[in-house]
Amino acid sequence: MQRFLPVDKLARPENYILVSLDRMRQARVDQGLTPFNAMPYEEDFLRARLHGICAGEMQAMEAAGRTLFDFPDAPWEFQLDMARQVWDESRHAEIYMKLLEYVGSYLGEFPESEVLWSCTQVDDPACRVAGINRGLEGLACDVFEQLIRLAQKMGDPVIERAVDYVLADEITHVRMGSKWMRKLTEGDPERLKRAQQFQENIDNLFNFSGGRTTQEEAAQVHQKLGDKEIEFDSTLTIAREARLLAGFNEEEIERLVKAASRSAAY
Ligand SMILES: [Fe+2]
Ligand SMILES: [Fe+2]
Repeated sequence: MQRFLPVDKLARPENYILVSLDRMRQARVDQGLTPFNAMPYEEDFLRARLHGICAGEMQAMEAAGRTLFDFPDAPWEFQLDMARQVWDESRHAEIYMKLLEYVGSYLGEFPESEVLWSCTQVDDPACRVAGINRGLEGLACDVFEQLIRLAQKMGDPVIERAVDYVLADEITHVRMGSKWMRKLTEGDPERLKRAQQFQENIDNLFNFSGGRTTQEEAAQVHQKLGDKEIEFDSTLTIAREARLLAGFNEEEIERLVKAASRSAAY
């Protein structure tokens, strides 16, 4: 079986479209929308956001399986953690498929981003867990925490509880990433630096040119969501509390916030 599977080998139904993150963002710009993040006031926000997450869960499931397969010499405990993650992510994919149905969408309604899969092309397991578990699943903590608050404002306990259930697992996945990034690079500071750099590149893809801040500091703007009018965050926030629970330290969170505001100066 082929290792480091290229993205076009992912098993998907024929009507699926996988595209790069850049292309997805360009498509938003072409429609006169903000390039980076779907906003709650957009008509298809919930469908698009839940679809993006669902596709991410599928790729997270596939990627954890590939990491297990691509590195047969990795420590057995590492492989066990990856196997456990496959199981978690398959549950998450099922939950989000049900949530898609709940909001009147279906898998394949929107294109799927290749971004998570791109991390599986790197040949060091320490970089993989840094990029996927710490970078992208750290981002998932931000997205989920915000979605839970949004569901609370909407008075939707189905979305609120389902996402909260998944967030609890994601926190353990980020912790797992932190543990293995450090363990696999023990005694090799250069390798640790490469893994951290790899994660930083992923983080930077999602700092939205300075558009992000913490939940506490996010500007609240009046938005119309379906038939409800709410005050809500003007951007995707950084979930400090969930990230602390996930094992990020204050310094790392501060770095994320600063990276976001630094790029605002460009
Ligand atoms: Fe997940
Ligand atoms: Fe996960």
